[in-house]
Amino acid sequence: MLIVGEMKLAEVIHHDYNLVPVINRFDIPLGFGDGTIKQICAQRNVNLEFFLSILNTFHDEQYFPKDYLKSFPASLIINYLHKAHTYYLDEKIPQIKSMISKLFDLSEGNKKTLNLLSNFFNDYCKEFELHVAREEKEVYPYVLKLEEALDNSENQTMLDKDLLNYSIRTYEQDHEDVEEKLFDMKSLIIKYLPPENANNNIFEEVSYALLRELFVLEKELKEHSRIEDLILVPKVEGMEEQFKSNF
Ligand SMILES: [Fe+2]
Ligand SMILES: [Fe+2]
Repeated sequence: MLIVGEMKLAEVIHHDYNLVPVINRFDIPLGFGDGTIKQICAQRNVNLEFFLSILNTFHDEQYFPKDYLKSFPASLIINYLHKAHTYYLDEKIPQIKSMISKLFDLSEGNKKTLNLLSNFFNDYCKEFELHVAREEKEVYPYVLKLEEALDNSENQTMLDKDLLNYSIRTYEQDHEDVEEKLFDMKSLIIKYLPPENANNNIFEEVSYALLRELFVLEKELKEHSRIEDLILVPKVEGMEEQFKSNF
């Protein structure tokens, strides 16, 4: 299904519930009414074309119009990526942490695997926070500055020579796939989570819910990296070329 502006946003969510956190990133929380996507975007000052491209990209793995996505302003792409970071750090990670601690509370048996799981996730979070901090503090601000300099390029005095000292290539080279490590954690749950007392149904329920959250997070992060690696980086490479030629 290709999502288009004439569709009602509520119907799209009925069709693909996983889009809820994605539309949140555009400051459209639930309770948005019965409008079409076009109407809702107009009311809320959301770039319709960008919104549709992101929804479709997220909804259908095969849909990935690279060149089209690269045509949007970097600030729009970065705003979206930044909101996603906030969502992972402030919602997803705490949610997963609280599920792990719930498992500890419910477990009546040996906690060895739970300890392993918990240590693994804590280490993962530290790495993830560093990954995000680098993008938020170093990469995104650089891109926004570069875009500003290009927008003001008629005004030669605005050209900031410092921008030439950085290159998006450094980021491209060591931009890690943060989602890959979640695989080991899923395996740990799938293969080694100890069976609990038969009466302890809640333990099983929370384990399943945790596993589901990890699958969802993994998919989200894969999508996020895809936009960083295949849209943002090549876009910025083009901007750098243009910036150099302005000197
Ligand atoms: Fe990121
Ligand atoms: Fe990243």
